[in-house]
Order: sequence, then structure tokens, then C-alpha cells
Amino acid sequence: MEFIRDYADWFYLIGAVLFILTLRGLSGPKTAIAGNRYGMIAMAIAVITTFFVAENPVVWMIVGAMVLGAMVGIARARTVPMTQMPETVALMHSLVGLAAVLIAVAAIIHNNELAKLDVGLLQANGVNFHEMGKVHLFELFVGCFVGAITFTASVFAYGKLAAKKWAKTISGAWVKPVQALIFIAMFAAGIHFFLTGNMTSFWAMTGLALVFGWVWIAPVGGGDMPVVVSLLNSFSGWAAAGIGFTLENNMLIVAGSLVGSSGAILSYIMCKAMNRSIINVLFGGAMGGTAVAVEAGDKAPRNHRSGSADDAGFLMSNADSVVIVPGYGMAQGRAQNAVKELANLLKEQGVTVRFAIHPVAGRMPGHMNVLLAEADVPYEDILEMDEINSDFPATDVVLVIGANDVVNPAAKDDPSSPIYGMPILEAHKARTIMVIKRSMATGYAGLDNDLFYNDKTMMIFGDAKKVVEDMTKAINGNGH
Ligand code: TAP
Repeated sequence: MEFIRDYADWFYLIGAVLFILTLRGLSGPKTAIAGNRYGMIAMAIAVITTFFVAENPVVWMIVGAMVLGAMVGIARARTVPMTQMPETVALMHSLVGLAAVLIAVAAIIHNNELAKLDVGLLQANGVNFHEMGKVHLFELFVGCFVGAITFTASVFAYGKLAAKKWAKTISGAWVKPVQALIFIAMFAAGIHFFLTGNMTSFWAMTGLALVFGWVWIAPVGGGDMPVVVSLLNSFSGWAAAGIGFTLENNMLIVAGSLVGSSGAILSYIMCKAMNRSIINVLFGGAMGGTAVAVEAGDKAPRNHRSGSADDAGFLMSNADSVVIVPGYGMAQGRAQNAVKELANLLKEQGVTVRFAIHPVAGRMPGHMNVLLAEADVPYEDILEMDEINSDFPATDVVLVIGANDVVNPAAKDDPSSPIYGMPILEAHKARTIMVIKRSMATGYAGLDNDLFYNDKTMMIFGDAKKVVEDMTKAINGNGH
């Protein structure tokens, strides 16, 4: 085991390279499985190496904690439905934040004990305790307050996404000044701790950071929570990196920085796809949920055309090209396998079938890709928004399954719309449009959708899975 200790930095380097390959792998569906494997190997290397590097590790405690954590993790991974993934991720981030706070507290207590033992002895051995303390104090200051904010903000995000009663959105003119006050007080206490090492300031900073995490996120609407979760993912990474400096662990610094920067990039991509700025999401009050819902009776009733699954099946089996646009309703109705069967049947009949994915379709990044991968839809049939948009005018039938906002033409045509400027899948340009949903209800943004009233559109009302299955039966029954 001496060997692992002697070459620890090399093992960490291998782990770091594997973590980078993990991120690279996770950037595309074809390479995602390999990416996950790299991640698992890297984590195993990191944990085993750290175990041997530690001085006098309390083996039973570490192994006990790992077994307990693994049991909870495996049980949760087996049972959590895909729709509850965002809140599960939020809960995991809260634990990273909490770990950062606890490590900071432990490091400070440890440091104080050392100082009490004999500062002179350390200096006699060439260690300038005061200076060493300063650098540590800074790392602890940053790691601890970022960790504390991440902890309470993530717990709130979890509560909000899981619709817990205690996760109440707060609003009012008082919110921003209170946020600012707490932040300034937290920062002042942190600076005082950094300059003097005063423990009361440390506890004050930690307590205020915990409160700040809550009041910072509580005004954000439920709908914007996925962006917040992604941002907290980034925070948890930076907190881990800060603690990596405290523990002098290069692996933690590298892995934390990778999580921090990839989370920040993902938040940026999500905001861009929703045409929001990160500042607007975090401080601008939320657009999400029902905030912009159209009041019933706001507008004169408009006409739409509805049809049956049989009609739709007939039209599609006679088309040359069909583009399927899945949205949140496909996830909600667990229709992905039925959709794949329908696509296969159409293909057997010589129809070109492709899937068009909007970056924020559903409720979490990659939501539609995950569902279609689960149903074994070939990757080459799945196209991103930029790849497919120019093909809509030449498409015979676009089949919208439980999508709404991501195909709402108001985002392009109506400057007064709250989603104006958000890039959309241009389904309205196809020759025939079919939309499966249960009613004329609005989607996540709470907005009416002109696409449903378009002369070329046929609404097929019902649960996504049932309607798609009926379409498949109809095509089979047609004997094509
Ligand atoms: P939405 O605009 O939310 O529309 C989903 C539609 O699905 C609803 O109008 C609903 O209409 C229908 N539906 C629900 N359950 C159904 C079922 N079982 N069968 C058939 N239809 C069903 O979804 P979208 O088009 O995917 O857009 C996503 C929205 O979420 C965007 O506004 C986006 O900004 C937001 N958002 C996304 C993310 C990420 S990262 N993906 C994060 C935050 C916010 P009925 O009730 O009439 O059936």
C-alpha cells in the first residue's frame, strides 16, 4: 500500500484525466455510457487513493459511512422516477454543501487544537503558523460560506420541486433589501474572521450564509428551479474545490473545478434556450409556473380543429416525411415506448421519421433525450433544434406529442409575449400539424399557443400514450 501512497499524485492525475473524459463522454448520447464508466473508475481511483493517503484513517468510520451512503444511493437510484430527477439532484447538491461546511468546521477546530498545542514548536520547525493560518482562513472562509449557501438553497430547491408545503415562495418589496442586508453582514463577518481568525465571526458568517441561501432562492418561482438546481450544482463544485485547498487534496480541487465550471456552462445554456438571463432568473422575480398564466376569458373564444387517432394514423402513413416533436406531456404520459413503436411502424411503411428536440423540452436538461434513449430510439433519428428547423417547411406531417411552449410561434412573432425571443422548433412551418394533448390548457409558461388554432393544425385530445397506441392500431388496421 506504500506504493499507492508514494504515487498518489499520479493516481490523482489519472483520475483527473478520466473525469475530463467523463464530461466529454456525457456531452453526446452515443458516448454517454462510456462517459459514465470513466466517471465511476475515476471516482474509485480518487476514493481508494485518498483512503491510503490519509494519516491514521478511522477505517470503520469511513467504510461504515461509505456502505451506508451506497445503500441509500442504490435504493434511491432504483426507485426514483425520471420525473423526480431534478429534486433528487437538488437534494444531492445540498449534501455536498453540508459536507463543505462540516469539513470547514472540523478543519478550524483541528487548527485551533494545533495552535493550542504549541505554536512555537511549529515555528521552530520552520513552519510559519500565522501565514499558513491566513491562507487556510481564506480557503475556509470561501469554502464554508459557499457550502452553507449551497446547502440551504438546495434544500429549498428540493422542497419547491417536490411541492413540499414548507418550501414557500416569498415575495414583496422587503425581499431584496433583506437579501442585501444579510449578504453584507455575512461578508463582513467572513472578512473579520479572515483578518482576525475570530471564531464568533466564523459562526456568524456560517449562520448568515445558511439564512442567505434560503432567502436568496425562496423568491424564485418553481418553474425556474431547474436553472437554479444547475447553478447550485456549479456552487457545490466550487465549494468542494475550496475544501480541496483546505485538505490539500489535488483531486478534490480538480474535480470540484470541473463540476463548478460545467454547472455554470449548463446554467448558461439553459438560460439562453429559455431566453432569460441568469440575473433575471435569480433576482428578477420569476416568470415560472402560473405567473404569466392567461386568465380565462381574457380573449374571445377561438376555433380549433380536432380529429381522431384514426384520421391522424391515416394521414401519417400516407406521408413521405414525419417529424415528431416530444414535450413534457410525453414524459408525463410515459409514452416514449409507444412513440417508438409508432415510429418503427411508419418507417416500415417507407415514411422518413425523425425526432426534433428542443433544449428545454420537458423539465430538465436532456429530458427528451433520456426518454428516447430509454425506448431505444436510434440516435441518428434524433435531431437538435438547429439541425431540424430548416427542414420543417418540407415536412409533410409534424406530430407534436405533449409539447406546448417549445413550439409556440408567439416566441417569434409576438413582441409582447413573455417568451418572445426564445428559440423554438418551427413546427408551424410544416404542411400538416398534429398535436396530441389532453385539453387546450396552457403549458409551463402559462401561455396560449397560436399553433393550436392554425388552419393546418389538427388537435387529437387524450393521454399521449393512449393516443399514440391508438394511432399505431389504426395504421396496422389500415393494412398498409
Ligand atoms: P409545456 O409547455 O410544459 O407543455 C406540456 C404540455 O403537455 C401541456 O400543455 C399539457 O397539456 C400536455 N400534457 C401534459 N400531460 C400530458 C399527457 N399525459 N398526455 C398528453 N399531453 C400532456 O412543455 P414543453 O413544450 O416541453 O416545454 C417545456 C417548458 O418547460 C418550457 O416553457 C421550458 O422553458 C420549461 N422549462 C424547461 C426546463 C428544462 S431544462 N427542460 C427547465 C425549466 C423550465 P394538457 O394539460 O392539455 O394535456
